[in-house]
Amino acid sequence: MKYIFMNKNTEVLLAEYDSGLGVFSKIYDIYNINYAPYILKNFYNDTSLRTNLSKWFQGRGIPSWRDKLDLLLHRLNQTTPSELLDKAFGLSLSDQYWLKPYDTDIKYDDINFFDHDFDYTEFMEASLSKNSKMVTREEALMTPNNTTDGMLKKAWIIEDGVRYLLKGGYKNEVLQPFNEVLASMICERLGFEHVTYTLDTYQDMVVSKCPCFITKDTEFITASQIRNDMERHDSTKDYEDYIKLLESHGIKDARIKMENMYILDFLMLNEDRHLNNFGIIRDVNTLEWLDVAPIFDNGQSLNIQDYNDEEVIISGQGRLFYEVKCFDEIIAVVKDIKRIDLSRLDDLALWFDDLLHKYQYITNMSDRRIHKLCILLNSRINKLKKLGRE
Ligand SMILES: Nc1ncnc2c1ncn2[C@@H]1O[C@H](COP(=O)(O)OP(=O)(O)OP(=O)(O)O)[C@@H](O)[C@H]1O
Ligand SMILES: [Mg+2]
Repeated sequence: MKYIFMNKNTEVLLAEYDSGLGVFSKIYDIYNINYAPYILKNFYNDTSLRTNLSKWFQGRGIPSWRDKLDLLLHRLNQTTPSELLDKAFGLSLSDQYWLKPYDTDIKYDDINFFDHDFDYTEFMEASLSKNSKMVTREEALMTPNNTTDGMLKKAWIIEDGVRYLLKGGYKNEVLQPFNEVLASMICERLGFEHVTYTLDTYQDMVVSKCPCFITKDTEFITASQIRNDMERHDSTKDYEDYIKLLESHGIKDARIKMENMYILDFLMLNEDRHLNNFGIIRDVNTLEWLDVAPIFDNGQSLNIQDYNDEEVIISGQGRLFYEVKCFDEIIAVVKDIKRIDLSRLDDLALWFDDLLHKYQYITNMSDRRIHKLCILLNSRINKLKKLGRE
């Protein structure tokens, strides 16, 4: 089918999109290529624009590694996630790209999911519920849930007009949502800009819940997209170049904000800071780079993958830009740890202990594990304090 590929109200290009395959099979015309997704920057005048547009569009959908993907697709009566990509005009809540059927007068203002409510109940059930019915109504697929990235089961919902992302744990792991909330608490106490996660319960599960950090005027551009356009050296030099690039685009306090993210990762032993878990916010009307994206997705932390009932494991590796490194090396990028008032975290482990106990009746997390998590957290805070004194 023939579509105009749109960025909010701007016509980017005219293309043929093959809905079955989830690919753009032909580009007929280019209108405003600067408004295309940032990752396509190097392909603006290239014959591979079409292939890379398809690749980007597929990458914007539900990934093949989504937890319980088979079950979700079965419940939605779909064979692959790419079948969902052009449902609901391909709209998302993380950017403003969409597909406008050619020769129609559909306007962004009439369809976007920031202004217009969507019927999320069935998708949420299909995604998060242990026993969900098959989704039969086509309207149930008219949601921004067709275009969410990430490994965890998740669903966009609306409460009091606010769009929230609900996220479950990986398989039967229950710690993820608590880690998200802990990260929010650390950020709040230390004054780091962040997405605020709270806890919610869905059936017999604890899930995390965070508001959308994008507005109708902005898009999230991942560090992965930005890096794609940069020269490659080693991770430390590339990290420096990344900060310089952000600063050259006028983003204020880019270095401090990146450092804050690595301080949080150090405290929480976050192993999942890959290049799609941070980035920048761009204005979709002016294409101005506005800010570093607030810190989000901190669930894969506190040795969640390597829990051992017998011992407290303090090892684990994080990521500096794209390279897996030990946390002691990563924290070295923070120029002045003393600027952070770590005494604000003094009773944090106690607070976390209370929180984990409060939900124990649902999570069945053992006292032993809770105790160990709190010891681990305290040890990280003390270690950072020590580094701050050196
Ligand atoms: N609050 C939000 N507002 C807007 N977009 C968001 C928000 N939270 C997440 N996203 C988008 O959804 C994607 C997936 O979310 P998130 O990273 O939290 O999921 P995940 O399943 O934990 O990911 P991963 O595969 O990295 O573990 C993000 O990369 C981002 O593009
Ligand atoms: Mg993520």
